[in-house]
Amino acid sequence: MKRLFINIGKLIQVEQGDLVQRRCGKEMSSLGIIENGYLLTDDDLISDFGMMSQLTDERLKCMMPDESVDVCGRMVLPTFCDSHTHLVYAGSREIEFFDKLKGLSYSEIAARGGGILNSAKLLHEAAEDDLLKQALLRAREIVSFGTGAVEIKSGYGLSLEDELKMLRVARRIGEFTPLTVKTTFLGAHAVPARYTGRREEYVDEIISEMIPVIATEELADYIDVFTEEGFFSVEDTDRILNAGMKYGLRPKVHANQMSFSGGVQVGVKYNAISVDHLEYTGEEEFRVLKESETMATLLPGATQFLEMDYAPAREMIDYGLPVAIATNYNPGSCPSGDMRYMMFLGALKMKMTPNELINATTINGAYAMGLEETHGTIAVGKKANFLITAPIPSIEFIPYAYTSSWIDKIYLNGRLWQNL
Ligand code: NIG
Repeated sequence: MKRLFINIGKLIQVEQGDLVQRRCGKEMSSLGIIENGYLLTDDDLISDFGMMSQLTDERLKCMMPDESVDVCGRMVLPTFCDSHTHLVYAGSREIEFFDKLKGLSYSEIAARGGGILNSAKLLHEAAEDDLLKQALLRAREIVSFGTGAVEIKSGYGLSLEDELKMLRVARRIGEFTPLTVKTTFLGAHAVPARYTGRREEYVDEIISEMIPVIATEELADYIDVFTEEGFFSVEDTDRILNAGMKYGLRPKVHANQMSFSGGVQVGVKYNAISVDHLEYTGEEEFRVLKESETMATLLPGATQFLEMDYAPAREMIDYGLPVAIATNYNPGSCPSGDMRYMMFLGALKMKMTPNELINATTINGAYAMGLEETHGTIAVGKKANFLITAPIPSIEFIPYAYTSSWIDKIYLNGRLWQNL
């Protein structure tokens, strides 16, 4: 099925010729834009685009579209690539939110059996189908917010059986929705209650029992560790990432969220595809990242929720680093999967420009999931995943009007998405 979209006021984030894998530093300010353009899709892929003035009768005859859609001057841009979520979880944790507002810290809530261990208990009690039902609601919600590709982590299972349950559900989200899904095994998210005081033994279980089964069943694309005081040490991380890599799982790391944990360094040592959070990042981390192929992924929704200082995005970009922004959708530190709101926080709190924000939420997010060849820009041969805006005055309106419904239509895999 060929669909031709005409009279596109601005076709945003287009790429021709050699495609970029990610945008770093100053490159994050550049955004390919075609004014008054067209876009042709062929089944699930983008097959052509250009200026309306190039759409001659002859060209039209060659295209032979089955359907033509007049976009009436609106803008078109790629769907968001959300490279860090925990959206498979059971129940919610709003009581802890109010405990936090009464003065308890994230670590104190965790130490009382709240936090990740609370979600692990709820997940253990949930039947797999029920877990899927809950996760599907969130998955469909994020599509309506404009997301087309998402990474989903395990990490509320903390036993082989429950981690497998989470990862199967995460994979099924890719079957039940048009989202492109990448999955990450995060057994090292917290030390489960049965291993209290015996963290190293839990690390042994992850390495010798969980990783081999999860890898053999091909349930995960990546392996992740929460490298933080009170969770997992650099040495634990080193062991786990090493073990995962032997099974073909490329690392990601929850790094430097609450302290200068060494997570960035150990992630880069193992060529992590991304290190995520980075609220505590200084000169040493900048230097290490600059020499690497690792994406710096920032999660401003969690920073806001936990009332912390934001990751130094401005300094990172000025230093020449690539930055991605993701939601971190989870019940404990960011109960929102809305990339539009993350863009707003990126502007307001991290002083990123509109062009940088679009790159951070599209191509750089795609890179952080290994999807840069197929997602994140409008390019021939890439997935036909894009948004048609409502009538909006400018690109700047996108990160500014964070509660307006500026997305009018969503196309995923070349098909109009309808939330039925
Ligand atoms: O990324 N930092 C660790 N993991 C999540 C929080 C998960 C939770 O509290 O349930 C995060 O913020």
